[in-house]
Amino acid sequence: MELMKHIDDYADQRVCILGLGYVGLTLAVAMADVGFEVVGVEIRETVVDLLSQGKAHFHEPGLEEKLQQVIATGNLTFAKEVPDDWAGKVYIITVGTPLASNGLSRIDMIENVSRQVASKMKEGDLVIMRSTVKLGVTRKIVTPILDSAGCKYHLAFCPERTLEGKALTELRSLPQIVGGATYGAGVRASQLFQFLTPTVVRVSDVETAEMIKLIDNSQRDVAFAYANEVARSCDALGISAAEVIRAGKLGYSRTNLPMPGPVGGPCLEKDPHILAEGLRELGITPAITLAARTLNENQPNEIVDYLQQITSDFTGFPDSPNITLMGIAFKGQPSTDDLRGTMARPILSALRNAFPTANFKGFDAVVAENEIKDFGLMPVATLEDAFKESDIVLILNNHPIFASMPVSVLANLMNAPGLIYDFWNCFDALDLHLPSGRGYMALGSHGRAKLPTGVS
Ligand SMILES: NC(=O)c1ccc[n+]([C@@H]2O[C@H](COP(=O)([O-])OP(=O)(O)OC[C@H]3O[C@@H](n4cnc5c(N)ncnc54)[C@H](O)[C@@H]3O)[C@@H](O)[C@H]2O)c1
Repeated sequence: MELMKHIDDYADQRVCILGLGYVGLTLAVAMADVGFEVVGVEIRETVVDLLSQGKAHFHEPGLEEKLQQVIATGNLTFAKEVPDDWAGKVYIITVGTPLASNGLSRIDMIENVSRQVASKMKEGDLVIMRSTVKLGVTRKIVTPILDSAGCKYHLAFCPERTLEGKALTELRSLPQIVGGATYGAGVRASQLFQFLTPTVVRVSDVETAEMIKLIDNSQRDVAFAYANEVARSCDALGISAAEVIRAGKLGYSRTNLPMPGPVGGPCLEKDPHILAEGLRELGITPAITLAARTLNENQPNEIVDYLQQITSDFTGFPDSPNITLMGIAFKGQPSTDDLRGTMARPILSALRNAFPTANFKGFDAVVAENEIKDFGLMPVATLEDAFKESDIVLILNNHPIFASMPVSVLANLMNAPGLIYDFWNCFDALDLHLPSGRGYMALGSHGRAKLPTGVS
């Protein structure tokens, strides 16, 4: 409440956020919550209708509750386009920047939304780019479009760096990177974000801010790829990558490797490619970034080929196995229902090639059953149903429900011979007392797998 009083006399208190996906909606709610008067603009009419009723169109902890609060205070309203009589001075661009089918980053949505802003912009307005873009897009693509409005304005690039599942808390705590196209634009955008977070990091220019966002995600991808490389190496050696990584970093912070596992999601599947695309235009090939992405992208086929090979040696393994995929969302911690860029998709596709007549079931602790069905899997609601009469059960994401499940008990429900393949090393095969005919194997720890007994 105290904060709202402070914002009352702030010149940039009215904000228009364009694009209400994960980034735009969470930002709109967080800003409205601290007292900004926010209009959220979204071209998808169904989304505007849902939001106007106080319903979020994706799962994010605490979002719907806050959404309803800020709608009730009148601080957040929704529209399909910027209202003609809108009296604000700040536009924040949060539209999507996915890869096109040719693998290059799409900028058409950035261009369209920039044209919309240019058509409404008035003298002295502030435009903030928050979508992740190829290096140079803010200056080379957005600036000329905004210039066509023929008025003076401020422009800054301030990337979104929240984790899905923690967006509302991180928007109030993470340092905000601000790169102004001019010094004044940087100072003005910094002031705005100071209402949200205690730390604003003002950098020299928009390119520095664009680069920070791209390397944030690319270095995460590289770290995960390195863990996957350790997994491949340990599989070849017959030792456990989980043990190598956990033991190696215990009390030794200079080794800080994550666990191996499928690497996907709406950002990591594209941002390293977007970084590489921008650098290639400058004559640089980012070899480490690209090698990491390739390693992560190759994992589904590599593992499924291996699964096909070992199960073909199981005595009595059926020609049309029942295969259950558990953990369909792109990650399990923090939990999300987001299927964009999930590695469950290429894993399912590789499984369909390897086991063309298999029957597929899907379980996820967060994703709705109809979405699992649309994904091409028969949805099951419980862990028991996931294991029941399955020949292969795969743990695809790191949702905590998997590490805490009574796997040896659930394995009784599987067909024999049956195999649990765990991409997340939730268990150590050496500690499991599995019923006969059922086995367990984890990524990077193939050498210590328990294979179903009675296998040739
Ligand atoms: N998802 C994340 O966690 C995350 C995190 C950090 C950064 N980012 C980046 O932020 C950007 C947005 O990501 P997202 O996940 O919210 O994308 P999204 O695709 O979920 O949402 C973008 C929204 O913009 C809308 N839109 C498109 N053109 C529009 C226009 N002209 N006017 C109004 N609305 C329009 C779309 O309909 C969509 O709802 C991307 O560049 C992404 O890489 C995403």
